[in-house]
Amino acid sequence: MLAIATPIAHAQVAEVIGDGIIRYDASLEARQNRRPSIALVQPFTAIGDVNPDNMAISPEYSMDSGSGRTVASIDIPEGTSLYGTGMCAGPLLRNGFVTETWNLDAFGYGLGDPNLYTSQPWVLGVRPDGTAFGVLADTTYRTQIDLRGGITFRAEGGNFAVIIVDRDSPQEVMEGLGELTGSIAMPPRWAVGYHQCRYSYNPESRVREVAQTFRDKEIPADVIWMDIDYMDEYRVFTFDKEQFPDPKGLNDWLDSIGWSNVWMIDPGVKDEDGYFVSDSGDEHDVWVRDKDGNVYNGEVWPGVCVFPDYLNRDVRNWWAGLYKDFMSYNIDGVWNDMNEPAVFNVASKTMPEDNVHRADPELGGTDTHDRYHNVYGMQMIRATREGVMAANPDKRPFVLSRANYIGGHRYGATWTGDNSANWPHLEMSIPMTLNLSLSGQPFVGPDIGGFAFNGDGELFQRWIGFGSLFPFSRGHTAKGNIDKEPWSFGPEVEATSRRALERRYRLMPMLYTAFHESSESGMPIAQPTFFADPTDLALRSEDDSFLLGEDLLVVCKTTPEMDRVPVLPGAVDGVEWAEFDFPSYDGGRDSKDSALPQLYIRPGSIIPTGPVHQYFGDRPDQRDELTLLVHLDANGEAEGDLYEDAGEGFGYMMGEYLETEFVASVEKGRVVVRINEQDGKMAQPDRKINVIVVGSDKKGRFED
Ligand code: NOJ
Repeated sequence: MLAIATPIAHAQVAEVIGDGIIRYDASLEARQNRRPSIALVQPFTAIGDVNPDNMAISPEYSMDSGSGRTVASIDIPEGTSLYGTGMCAGPLLRNGFVTETWNLDAFGYGLGDPNLYTSQPWVLGVRPDGTAFGVLADTTYRTQIDLRGGITFRAEGGNFAVIIVDRDSPQEVMEGLGELTGSIAMPPRWAVGYHQCRYSYNPESRVREVAQTFRDKEIPADVIWMDIDYMDEYRVFTFDKEQFPDPKGLNDWLDSIGWSNVWMIDPGVKDEDGYFVSDSGDEHDVWVRDKDGNVYNGEVWPGVCVFPDYLNRDVRNWWAGLYKDFMSYNIDGVWNDMNEPAVFNVASKTMPEDNVHRADPELGGTDTHDRYHNVYGMQMIRATREGVMAANPDKRPFVLSRANYIGGHRYGATWTGDNSANWPHLEMSIPMTLNLSLSGQPFVGPDIGGFAFNGDGELFQRWIGFGSLFPFSRGHTAKGNIDKEPWSFGPEVEATSRRALERRYRLMPMLYTAFHESSESGMPIAQPTFFADPTDLALRSEDDSFLLGEDLLVVCKTTPEMDRVPVLPGAVDGVEWAEFDFPSYDGGRDSKDSALPQLYIRPGSIIPTGPVHQYFGDRPDQRDELTLLVHLDANGEAEGDLYEDAGEGFGYMMGEYLETEFVASVEKGRVVVRINEQDGKMAQPDRKINVIVVGSDKKGRFED
């Protein structure tokens, strides 16, 4: 396959566009004709020139005469570990794998499938000494990422730029990716809670029943989801009058018992005279057209559909406008599904590659679908986000998207699509979440419990055990499957689920702080265990554990027998990571529940935690109580950060937040924690601060 590579005639050129960031083009001419980047947050002009021959890591451009693809090959030092490449079903370490960027409705996907729902042509390389680099193929076209020896990108569509970030650590490279592609906006605090979904909760009495049962059973959760069956025969922006006669009333009631809601909107619009979205789209000429200039038709849920051309600013404005009425039903968040775009009645599962998009000049201008396929979903959620924000200007938007492209984290969160309820998928959900995080999408997680098929109680119990600690944490299952709410498998699984979710809510102060860190720097929220020590080669292929933020290690049990021994980070100056558990509210300690992952704290860190609450805004009397988990380093010291804001609205952008740095030291045999530094205009809450010292029998206290 793809055999003969002929070097491109002209020497490649390179320019510095940031600190340790160099952009390469195949030639001067290629640079002059470079297409606008959709991944980057701004075009980035050169701040200096470099000689590409002097660079440690640089691409060699060639042309593959068999496939006509442009090839960029990057030699890497021996022993380099490779990660990223977006959404890939398989292990964390990507050396030896071949993937391809081509967003696909991949129901039933499995190990090693080359392309899934999102496209991130990005590879993170970590050298044996722990220094690191990242390589971005800045093209939206279908691109093969071949990691069988070095890094090779083979892209359709002609020349493309390759951007290399070369820095001292993988964390610094991730910050570099953040500088290039931007970072997430702070989500509403409710979206950091647990989400409960199924295809579908209908009619509305079932939504109420599920929501009420969570509250009756005191299982923490914030968000309930309405999948496609709420619609009137799958017409987007409509409601089934019999099953959902009063969506606003439903949402108001959900609100009254602490639930936020998310409702689905798909891109396929039923092509039907008299249906207001179809008529309005006709009138505004918004639909994608085929090569002959006719409006393109493809079949999705509602039958024959037309598809908005989100590449076009006027179309995005039109689409955004549809959310004004929709959001007025007291809708909190929007789920954009099927936006690869999925098309049912064709072998390719998507629209023809010669369809035409009237893209904005800044995105690259009018061109065919093969160029814009991978960014169709991204531009859809961009428009959705704008619409949601315009409808509710004082609220933080939340949008979940199935398809996405590198940089699309600026507009919405992503999940790993239609996984399956079996052990290999449970296991894969950790490295999939991590590699997406390492590809610039920090707000991510799988369908907990598995989407396709039923699975059993043991599988669900184990999955929610650690799935409750992913940045995006949502249970979901397909139509026709058994119920998969936390109580559906009997009292034992229910008890584990409650403990797992109580952990998430107790860890909320640190989790929300990790979201804030990510929004500032682009740092992943779920991080691979090797981030604890990038020089420790034994950690490089650890699939069964992850770090939440920098300081908390989550060690998962991913086989039915619980027989796999994960590699833990080593001691730091003689001090081991300390295992800890929360006291359980139903008696005993969480760690007695063997289905739950074990939690460890990094030496020298302070982790802020809070009391269990059932949802954001619950227990306002105790909301501010803090418990600092302190694990001293070899010098008897520790430090940790806490970020707080209102959890909603944009006051934080005007300084209405509080960022606190705590430090701990030993004084007269006791651990004393103090505030070292504080920033922000939010008033210091009048609250009790408890200190728990882990990994030592020392007592601790907080002093003002
Ligand atoms: C496909 C999505 O991946 C799945 O999560 C959803 O439940 C179905 N579409 C139905 O909307």
